[in-house]
Amino acid sequence: MRIALAYSGGLDTSVIIPWLKEHYAADVFAVVVNVGQKDDFRYIAHKALASGASDVWIPDCRQEFLESYAFPMVQAEALYEGQYLLGTAIARPLIAKKLVEGAAKFGAEAVAHGATGKGNDQVRFEVGVRALNPDLAIIAPWRLWDLKGRQDEMAYAAAHGVPVDSTPESPYSRDENLWHVSHEGGAIENPALPIPPDVYTWTVHPEDAPDAPEVVDIGFVNGIPVSINGHPHNAVTLVESLNSLGSRHGVGRLTMVEDRLVGMKSRGVYETPAGTILYAAHKALTSLVWDREVTYFMDQVGTKLARLTYDGLWFSPLREILLETTKTANQPVTGEVRVKLFKGQATAAAVKQAPESLYSPELATFEASSFSHQDAEGFIRLWGLSSQVYGSVHREGIKV
Ligand code: ARG
Ligand code: SIN
Repeated sequence: MRIALAYSGGLDTSVIIPWLKEHYAADVFAVVVNVGQKDDFRYIAHKALASGASDVWIPDCRQEFLESYAFPMVQAEALYEGQYLLGTAIARPLIAKKLVEGAAKFGAEAVAHGATGKGNDQVRFEVGVRALNPDLAIIAPWRLWDLKGRQDEMAYAAAHGVPVDSTPESPYSRDENLWHVSHEGGAIENPALPIPPDVYTWTVHPEDAPDAPEVVDIGFVNGIPVSINGHPHNAVTLVESLNSLGSRHGVGRLTMVEDRLVGMKSRGVYETPAGTILYAAHKALTSLVWDREVTYFMDQVGTKLARLTYDGLWFSPLREILLETTKTANQPVTGEVRVKLFKGQATAAAVKQAPESLYSPELATFEASSFSHQDAEGFIRLWGLSSQVYGSVHREGIKV
């Protein structure tokens, strides 16, 4: 049997290699999807082989990850439960896609992953794999083996020649890509405790950020960010630059208790500097170029898209419809926004230009203009007609 494994280089997925070989008499092929995690891929390839993998494949998917997964979320201003920018949830369908490709490349009839039975990631991986190739068998060792935790895994690693890194495994469960880093587990699990400072790996503490604000101008074309301070960028360098800029100012930290698809609440910490800057900038632009009904509708589109993505239903007809709608709504989202970064906050300070702006200074001004104040009288009379009728019928019972 041949098995393609979604491999990260960490202890969990390294132990999975000999475990699969032992339990399925299988050849194991490691698929390491580069979505911009700050890892040494040469070392990871070496570690996979040293742990017993027959071969390793490391596709560079950074550009695809941003252009086809992260940027559409910006265009929809999609947030899960009003806060989470979905950095892990959007990477999973792409990893599932590459795992299926890797299986074909290596002639594997099964895939395996290192997600636990308690989480969202198992759902996202497996729904994705089934949607793309229902013939592949799926093996989730965490739901099968009797290794109970780190200690058991370390012992299994030692007994099976899996190299163990000299740096001790962190007490936190982390997931990193170009869009964000997430942290769960350890002290984060107790909502009665503040987040320990050693959790954060990208951003400085806002209190330690520079005392002077910094401004950055972001250019958008059809809702896609394309430039920083007037200089054109590709997706990867744009996000890398905004990540380092934002990190220096402590921008993009989030602590939240979220509802996992599988039912439990879980507390997590996220660092999404570039994403936080881009959402703020995009929102400033859409507040000018979107008709109000489009704004209210896109609120629902973003919420629905976030939920589908979080819940692992990326490969679904509704997601396709929502992304088409998002793309259409973003036609007028072109222009340049100035964002101020200061002590953990990214604030849209000004929209420098927006050719399709619907904002009319002539209409909005408190100064004299051609607007007819008298027109408002009839409008209000008709707008309030139903309230007037209701009030006249319920003169006594109307609630205040
Ligand atoms: N709770 C977040 C989500 O479901 C992050 C999951 C992080 N995954 C991980 N394997 N550490 O999207
Ligand atoms: C896991 O349980 O493998 C990570 C967390 C999650 O998937 O939600």
